[in-house]
Amino acid sequence: MALPAPLAPPHKGEGDRNLLAMRGDAAADGLRSRARECKLGELRLGTVRLDFPVVQAALSGYSDTAMRVIARRLGAPYTLCEVMLDYFVLQVRDRRRNSHIMNVADEEHPVGGQLMGAEPEQFGPAAERLVARGFDVIDLNFGCPVKKVLGRCRGGFHLSQPAVALDIVSRVRDAVPPHIPVTVKMRRGIDDTAESREKFFEIFDGAYQRGAVAITVHGRSVMQRYDGPSRWEFLRELKQYAGPRVVLGSGDLFNAQACIDMFRYAGIDGVTAARGAIGNPWIFAQTKALAAGLPMPDPPTLFEQREVIAEHYRLAEELYGAERCVPTMRKFGIKYSQLHPQHHDVREDFAKVKQAGGWREVLAKWYAVDEPGVHPAVEEPNPLASCAG
Ligand SMILES: Cc1cc2nc3c(=O)[nH]c(=O)nc-3n(C[C@H](O)[C@H](O)[C@H](O)COP(=O)(O)O)c2cc1C
Repeated sequence: MALPAPLAPPHKGEGDRNLLAMRGDAAADGLRSRARECKLGELRLGTVRLDFPVVQAALSGYSDTAMRVIARRLGAPYTLCEVMLDYFVLQVRDRRRNSHIMNVADEEHPVGGQLMGAEPEQFGPAAERLVARGFDVIDLNFGCPVKKVLGRCRGGFHLSQPAVALDIVSRVRDAVPPHIPVTVKMRRGIDDTAESREKFFEIFDGAYQRGAVAITVHGRSVMQRYDGPSRWEFLRELKQYAGPRVVLGSGDLFNAQACIDMFRYAGIDGVTAARGAIGNPWIFAQTKALAAGLPMPDPPTLFEQREVIAEHYRLAEELYGAERCVPTMRKFGIKYSQLHPQHHDVREDFAKVKQAGGWREVLAKWYAVDEPGVHPAVEEPNPLASCAG
């Protein structure tokens, strides 16, 4: 398949976020009405069929069993575990201290396990181990932009070396049983050069040829890290190029409307909610409602929030023990506080939790009376938001 012509200019930078605003009202209306005709249907990851195409992304430090189970119960059809290092997977013993990262709950299938590493030879055995632990899909991380990760030739570094990246795909595909789908997570390139773009497409095409059944693309470059927007226009052009190959989009999906907007604007097969799902597992049901043409559901009331937060803590305590779950759950409490009408005060109290079980006092103080919740504030509007009527 011929490499698609570069976008002109190849990469325009920050201005892309307001793409539709720049196109004027008529064009924006056209895109929005085309969007309304779109249906969000089934998403297929090879043998894994999902009845809704909005899934929960891999989130290091967050998407453990507790977060994933909550997301599944509240409507996510599929979730991904936080990234795991290949050598960690191979060396970890089934001791409680660190084996929680490979934990899979009975109720959360299908669930994806994501691998990251440098040496292609390690990936196959590590993938086999994840399958033995119960993961239903193996996802390969070619996107992580963290400096230390790049310095060790892992994650996003592979976007600079297609031969190695594709060797990893082949080895994993060969190692796991045929019914286990292999998928890939990429950023849109290492940087904004033509060379980076060429390598992106070499890996993108090669991965499908070697048996990957879906590729998730975060519309930022590795060098961009989180500065500036995710380039949805790139995702749209990529899906046009990909044809029937399954592409999922990522980046700047902070609420349900953004999920719908990306899906429809880019024409992709699925979207992965990441930061927008931390402390807001209702994003999946809300997206489903919008997709069905219903108005945006009210945010969960304080009692509804309390029930979910308490259950999330209970699952985390079960997973890590009451002491060890405190730092992780402090982060979650802070995120959940966004949905409380007095979020600054609630956030402060969650941030002060230092002792096992301290979160119960926060719930008793702030969630004892039922009141309407609020939708989280969205600081970075998505490209379609600028032309919302
Ligand atoms: C705290 C954090 C941890 C992340 N961990 C992972 C990870 O383990 N694997 C992965 O593929 N992406 C990871 N990502 C990237 C997200 O899955 C997603 O692609 C990115 O955040 C863009 O989506 P968003 O702008 O909607 O958050 C992480 C992002 C954040 C903010």
